Amino acid sequence: MAVAHRANGKRLFLRYLRKAPPSFFALGPCRHRHYKKKWAATAPPATSSRVALQVFDMNYGDQFGGLWPSIRISLLSMQKYGALVNNFSDVEQVIQSLEDLSAVDFIQESQKVTEELDSSIEEDSVPTSSLQIELSKTQPQHFPSVSPNIKCYTFPKGDINRFRPARPDIIGILGYYLLDAASILPVLALNVQPGNIVLDLCAAPGGKTLALLQTGYCRELTANDLSMSRTVRLRNVLRSYLPKEIQNRVRVTSWDGRNWCHTETSTYDKVLVDVPCTNDRKSVLEEENNIFTYARKGERQMLPMLQLQLLILLAMFVNLGNW
Ligand SMILES: C[S@@+](CC[C@H](N)C(=O)[O-])C[C@H]1O[C@@H](n2cnc3c(N)ncnc32)[C@H](O)[C@@H]1O
Repeated sequence: MAVAHRANGKRLFLRYLRKAPPSFFALGPCRHRHYKKKWAATAPPATSSRVALQVFDMNYGDQFGGLWPSIRISLLSMQKYGALVNNFSDVEQVIQSLEDLSAVDFIQESQKVTEELDSSIEEDSVPTSSLQIELSKTQPQHFPSVSPNIKCYTFPKGDINRFRPARPDIIGILGYYLLDAASILPVLALNVQPGNIVLDLCAAPGGKTLALLQTGYCRELTANDLSMSRTVRLRNVLRSYLPKEIQNRVRVTSWDGRNWCHTETSTYDKVLVDVPCTNDRKSVLEEENNIFTYARKGERQMLPMLQLQLLILLAMFVNLGNW
């Protein structure tokens, strides 16, 4: 019965439409028609990279102030790599090939600027008062000296060239390692001295371990990382960049750095702790395995605590006598 009614109604409506005046079909405002705003039942899901950017805007905006907009742009831009020269390969040929690309060793360049600055400061300011003489005795060198053996090439500002992946030389060793040039800075700050026993507590995939080895100063080096899969990557890097005799000088372990003092009794002259972080560039550019996903919220919230625990431990196994 209901079906018959509906069919009847449809037929009548169609008949009415056929006879309807043309104005019925005219588009335009209609007195009795009102437009109701429609809302989606659910908001489109915020992507993890968007969440990351919002968090950074809130925190780094405060922290960096006027510098944040330009830092933000570079964070969102394509990464510009530096090429860390591998001194265990055919160095001269590698350097030549990098210089042919008009890349410059930013460490050597900054060293030159430092020396010029230092000499101009010395020329300008002959200490006259007793206070100036005291200050000149107590103040450290204006800029710390860096190992002359670490070389990292970058393209100059404005040059958007990119380095090709390194190729193996005649003995099968890769000539350079591509990394964020800023990754070299903590290694320079560590200021490894000849004969030092060094620990790299969070080492994988191994960029900084490799930079530490470039100094040629590590008598022994332990490279540790909690993650087994990343430790495999670390081993592969060491295998691809080091001759056998240098590989043998590196001990690779895969322990939780927080328990290091329960498993280890040795002390070290220098310890590098490159704590796990929010991986900012990756977080604003990639969705895959992003630490800002809802599923990794707990891990993200615990990150500062983990960083603190690892850093506190640092003090416990450093040979304080050499500090
Ligand atoms: C920032 S990455 C290190 C990058 C590395 N230094 C390099 O230059 O290639 C941090 C590393 O810490 C490791 N890690 C996280 N928790 C750790 C822990 N409790 N103990 C040791 N390593 C840990 C992670 O697996 C990750 O590889």
